[in-house]
Amino acid sequence: MPKITISNQGQKVVNYKLNNESPLTVLAILQENNIDWMHACGGKGKCTSCKCNVITGESSLRSRTEVEKDFLIAGRISESQRMTCQAVPLGDIEIEVPEKNKLPGVNYTN
Ligand code: FES
Repeated sequence: MPKITISNQGQKVVNYKLNNESPLTVLAILQENNIDWMHACGGKGKCTSCKCNVITGESSLRSRTEVEKDFLIAGRISESQRMTCQAVPLGDIEIEVPEKNKLPGVNYTN
C-alpha cells in the first residue's frame, strides 16, 4: 500500500489505496485520515494555502494541473511545491508543511 509521509509532523505516515477510477488528491487522503491541513478555499484550487513542499516522490505524483501551472507561473508556488488539493499521488511521497502554512495548535517537528 503506498504512503504519504509528513516529515515535519514527526514523520507521520498515512497509507492509502490507489483508486484508478476515482483517484484522490493528497488533500483528500489527508482529510480522510483526520490530518489537519490548511485549505482556505475548501480545496477548490483558488488559494494555494494547501501547498506542500515535496521532499521525495515528485515522480510519484500526477503531472501538475492547469491550476497548479498557473500558480507556478504567478510565483504563488515553487518548483518544489505542489497544491495538495490538486496533486494526485500514485505511489510513496514525502511532504512537509511550508512554514507560512502551518496551522496553530498542530505540533510540527521542524
Ligand atoms: S485549498 Fe485552496 S488551492 Fe488548495
